[in-house]
Amino acid sequence: MELNWLLAPPLPETMPRQRVLYHRLREAVLSGRLAPGTLLPASRSLAASLRIARNTVLFAYEQLVAEGCLLADRQGTRVALLATPPVASSRSGDSSAVPLQLSSRAAAALQPEPARETAVLPFAPGTPDYGVFPFRSWRACLERAWRDAGWRQLGYAAHGGDPALRQALAGHLTTVRGLAVDAGQIVITSGTQAALDLCARLLGDHGDTVWAENPGYLAARVAFGLAGLRVHDVPVDSEGLAPGEGDWRGHPPRLIMITPSHQYPTGRVMSLPRRLALIERARQSGAWIIEDDYDSEFRRAGPAPPALFGLQPDAPVVYVGTFSKTLYPGLRLGYLVLPHAIAADFARATSQATRAGQGIEQRALADFIQRGYYTAHLRRMRTHYATRQTALRAALKAAFGATVELSGGEAGLHLVMWLPQAIRDTDVVARAEALGLGVRALGSYTRAPMTCNGLVLGYGNMDDRMLAEGVRRLVLAVRSQNFADEIPPMKNGPPAAANEPLE
Ligand SMILES: Cc1ncc(COP(=O)(O)O)c(C=O)c1O
Repeated sequence: MELNWLLAPPLPETMPRQRVLYHRLREAVLSGRLAPGTLLPASRSLAASLRIARNTVLFAYEQLVAEGCLLADRQGTRVALLATPPVASSRSGDSSAVPLQLSSRAAAALQPEPARETAVLPFAPGTPDYGVFPFRSWRACLERAWRDAGWRQLGYAAHGGDPALRQALAGHLTTVRGLAVDAGQIVITSGTQAALDLCARLLGDHGDTVWAENPGYLAARVAFGLAGLRVHDVPVDSEGLAPGEGDWRGHPPRLIMITPSHQYPTGRVMSLPRRLALIERARQSGAWIIEDDYDSEFRRAGPAPPALFGLQPDAPVVYVGTFSKTLYPGLRLGYLVLPHAIAADFARATSQATRAGQGIEQRALADFIQRGYYTAHLRRMRTHYATRQTALRAALKAAFGATVELSGGEAGLHLVMWLPQAIRDTDVVARAEALGLGVRALGSYTRAPMTCNGLVLGYGNMDDRMLAEGVRRLVLAVRSQNFADEIPPMKNGPPAAANEPLE
């Protein structure tokens, strides 16, 4: 049998001969070039004809025998009969073959990616100020965590997360957020996204309905869709989530996802009566409320309204928090606070579902909180972001007129600037992107029949110079050539019809 092609040029320069021989033999078996049952030459004779050492052939043969591509017996080495030659099935277009694509559920749930990375561009929502991150104290905590690390920090995390972090967080949430919780109620997660994913999988059953705010946080919809839940959109008004009887009766929820402290993206704060009413109705309907307490740390004035969690005894509420905005998103640490009734089961299920880790970061974070660095950092950032927002408001008013409609400034890292109907937010965003801005269209978070037309302007990660230049460019994006002469005055904000549910 003529097998010189096994080492015919071109030969990869960096790969040893024995690996080349192995790869080419394997490829020949898998593609059918060497038919099943073919008796290969003895290693000595193949080595002689290829002018290589016998050991080189032996290596390739032995490896392929171990993998099941070749069979060796007393008569020699043969090509094995593989159950389904992989290449043949895809070539024949066999309809029973598994399509090489994600599941239809995944395809339906995934959001389109922006054309380019916008997270650090001016006005990108949800980006904290990396420039004032307390590198030194955080690094010291990390170093201490590494110095004191034992097997516990290097292995999988304990059920629910690092005990020291759960303890520190319980203390922090009790004093700073007024949640009377203990460490056993806390489950550490890889940020909000993992928390939502866990809630969807552990509290919902396949095909259950989850309510999402409209407009609302798109990443939450992804988590719910991937878990096989049906997402039902519920409008948001000036007091937060505003379900009607049609929603309760026509689409009874198993889960209700809300961002009551600073609704994302409108920035509305859920009123106390609305909070109490929602708890009551959820209780009657057998639904869980997932309270993403987004942005509650960065209130501009006064304390945040009381969380739904703990507002009433035994309420069906799970509370979600994250360090993504208060520290940095790449840390991937967040947490769930759960009612006693499910806390231990949830912690166990989380361990089994995720095999959680990040023991060092968790220990460092516990240290960071215990030493008071976290509270000090929050205090500092609250003032910092409030000053930044004041500057942005002033710059926007100077650029677009004092009556420009701004909302959502009671907390957080973004403002909403409403646009008149004649200027489509998505068009402005397309032009703004070309000018290097990361502003987002309110409409892109909104599902029909709701209509919202405005810009979500993040100001977390902008210094004064960027802010001034950003607003200058925003003016260009809003007052494009198309609208140069006919740009309507913005004094009335969005038309009543578009804005109604929010005002
Ligand atoms: C409403 C909302 N919740 C939570 C987060 C943070 O998510 P994570 O903790 O997964 O980084 C974001 C990020 O932008 C958000 O917009």
